[in-house]
Amino acid sequence: MILSIESSCDDSSIAVTDIVTKEILFHRKISQEAEHAKYGGVVPELASRLHAVDLPKLLEEAKPYLDDLKAVAVTNAPGLSVTLLEGVAMAQALSIAKGLPIIPINHLKAHIYSLFIEKEAIFPMLVLLISGGHTMVLDVESFDEITVVATTMDDSFGESFDKVAKMMGLGYPGGPVIEKLAQKGDPDRFPMPIPLQHSPKIAFSYSGIKNAVRLVVEANQPLDEQTKADIAASFQKAAIAHLMQKTKKIFATLKPKDFAIVGGASANMAVREAFANLCARFDCNLHLADLQYCSDNAAMVGRCAIDAYYMERFSDALTIEVSPRTDN
Ligand code: KG4
Ligand code: ZN
Repeated sequence: MILSIESSCDDSSIAVTDIVTKEILFHRKISQEAEHAKYGGVVPELASRLHAVDLPKLLEEAKPYLDDLKAVAVTNAPGLSVTLLEGVAMAQALSIAKGLPIIPINHLKAHIYSLFIEKEAIFPMLVLLISGGHTMVLDVESFDEITVVATTMDDSFGESFDKVAKMMGLGYPGGPVIEKLAQKGDPDRFPMPIPLQHSPKIAFSYSGIKNAVRLVVEANQPLDEQTKADIAASFQKAAIAHLMQKTKKIFATLKPKDFAIVGGASANMAVREAFANLCARFDCNLHLADLQYCSDNAAMVGRCAIDAYYMERFSDALTIEVSPRTDN
């Protein structure tokens, strides 16, 4: 078995996975969303203190498995350095106490592996990663061969939902609230600019839509409930249209047979629907992770670690490094 630890942002999570059957034997997560909501976003110092409180609680629950472990896996990049360190410190302690190798896991790769939980991996695949930290199209050839086809020039897709929610005083995280509000709103009441619409650039940009929302929010004070819903619907429509326009261009060039959407924002039903239509038009299979594995979790870290284990991608307690950077 492998014990896996996730603490790259505001979710503390531990899982235990069977290396042979890929079955998840234990999986628990404590989300800090409520704690960060009052600040309208993740406060790194607070997140790190909460991981220090919550990770030991989860490890205590995983105690029945600790004598059967072959390795300990941990997210070590990218993410917030101060929160990554909490998970890594726990992995180091387990490694030293139990004589286990450490498997360092890249968070973006873990999101890709959320598709393969309790399943075989499928490669090659074109993957759209939409989360709070990233908006990327990745050409995934194998475990090691991953090429960034497009990325964001400024805000990420999920982050733009968080910022729009904050502007309307709707708390954190913004994604689920905006999606829910949008269902009751008129998406055509406040037409928003679609970023890079007339540019051949294969990239994303969300700061323009965010600023357009800011102007609408300021011009409609005080916001009544229907106006909030109409802003949410208008914003979500533009945000998804931009995602679709650029991905469609990539589809036309790369003609993928298998396409997936992963990351916290892949839980958005309007996003799922839009891409289901696009994939049908391009005769491409759409792959989605189970809803419970879209946002950060240790099960996806554990699944990724199984493939890393067979390739002996080990580190040890004294050499493992933490990095906030994406390319590590
Ligand atoms: O993958 P994740 O849990 O953490 C990161 O690695 O960033 O993603 C969290 C992000 C947040 O920005 C959140 O607002 C967004 O995913 N999100 C959504 C939805 N659910 C979560 N965005 C849009 N629609 C949703 N339903
Ligand atoms: Zn994530």
